[in-house]
Amino acid sequence: MKRILVWDIPTRLFHWLFAASFAAAWLTSESDEWLSFHAFFGYLMLGLIGFRLIWGVAGGHYARFTSFLYGPRAGLSYLRQELSGRGDRHIGHNPAGSQAVFLLLALGLAVCLTGLFVQGGEEQQGAVAGWLGFTLGRMVKEGHGFAANLMLLVVFGHLAGVAMASWLHKENLARSMVTGTKEAPEGTPASKPYRLVGALLLVAVAALGVWWFFYALHQPVEKYLMKDTADLGAPHVAFVGAALADDPKWREECGSCHMAFHPTLLPARSWQKLIAEQDRHFGADLALDAPTREALLAFMVNDAAEKMSTEAAFRINRSIKPETTPLRITDTPYWTKKHRDIAASDWLLPQVKSKVNCAACHQDAEAGTFQDAAMRIPR
Ligand code: HEC
Ligand code: HEC
Repeated sequence: MKRILVWDIPTRLFHWLFAASFAAAWLTSESDEWLSFHAFFGYLMLGLIGFRLIWGVAGGHYARFTSFLYGPRAGLSYLRQELSGRGDRHIGHNPAGSQAVFLLLALGLAVCLTGLFVQGGEEQQGAVAGWLGFTLGRMVKEGHGFAANLMLLVVFGHLAGVAMASWLHKENLARSMVTGTKEAPEGTPASKPYRLVGALLLVAVAALGVWWFFYALHQPVEKYLMKDTADLGAPHVAFVGAALADDPKWREECGSCHMAFHPTLLPARSWQKLIAEQDRHFGADLALDAPTREALLAFMVNDAAEKMSTEAAFRINRSIKPETTPLRITDTPYWTKKHRDIAASDWLLPQVKSKVNCAACHQDAEAGTFQDAAMRIPR
């Protein structure tokens, strides 16, 4: 027996980067606040899978798909042999391990592609922004979650398999995936390290990270170089749906006492009622003349929540019962649901003071886009 190189450098890098990006994407999947980072790990995973597919054809001996091309039946029967303690030791992937590799690549691809379409549909962001509407985006999201859960299950199966094979054959398989080497009988072909490909893979991952942070998240490089980052907003991916309607007259008339609430935040009937009752507007008389009322209304109705130009519009509109006409955004079921976990003390912070001070927590409130990642509760 002698120690030989089995897993080349690119294969090991792929393995751990893929595992880490899946774990990171999993951990950032719960909170909307981390969505921009969640998406990054998704794109990283997609890129890594792309690399692995190429490396499975062009890579070193043990990395090539042809060196572990077993069917599901071979995988199952190997699993049975292992369980009864009779399985052969394999230098490369064993038949059960090969099933995990193919399943994880296929599920990873499904998770990433559905994720891409959820981001493009529900958030109107990313590479396929606008290809799907909100309703379809939500349906794809179900599939995205399902595929991710299934993938986690296969990961656990893979870990159990690695632990079992390590124990049965008295070798640390996880460590082999770090060092790349295994004990093998004299004459077993060894792999080449492929250092250059490994280095290029690392450079590509780093470049994607830098590009994402500074370009996709709109972080000005100059400010970071000059260590002048105090007043930078939270990094977030830009909204790339159709530009939201804007109107100087509306900003002027409706933005003087509070911020101008974008028309997408209430349905048309609410705006009609607010304008009809403009002389008793929450205790104030707006004293708008007829032409101004008409111009404002035309603008607001044209991009009201029913138009679903943003995720918030879509969700707010869906949450309101057709027989009700809320005058407050803060009374709509979607709004109250999204904000019910905010502590009473946070509403009272001097930077917030009131629920209608949306811009205190949403950096893009003036624009009306209300992107998940653009919010920060001031402390
Ligand atoms: C003279 C000051 C003033 C102007 C001008 C004004 N508002 Fe208001 N608006 C208020 C006050 C006061 C409230 C209640 C705020 C609170 O509850 O903290 C309010 C609340 C609202 C709310 C409910 C916010 C919520 O969800 O709780 C909406 C919607 C609204 N205004 C729309 C408009 C529109 C549209 C215009 C332009 C036509 C406008 N406002 C102009 C004073 C004004
Ligand atoms: C005290 C801070 C704060 C204020 C003020 C505030 N919000 Fe929020 N808002 C949040 C937080 C935090 C969330 C995220 C809740 C979550 O993660 O589900 C949120 C979520 C939302 C969402 C959902 C975003 C999404 O896509 O998931 C919308 C829309 C929204 N807010 C609109 C408003 C509007 C309109 C106002 C003003 C009338 C407002 N918010 C005022 C803190 C605030």
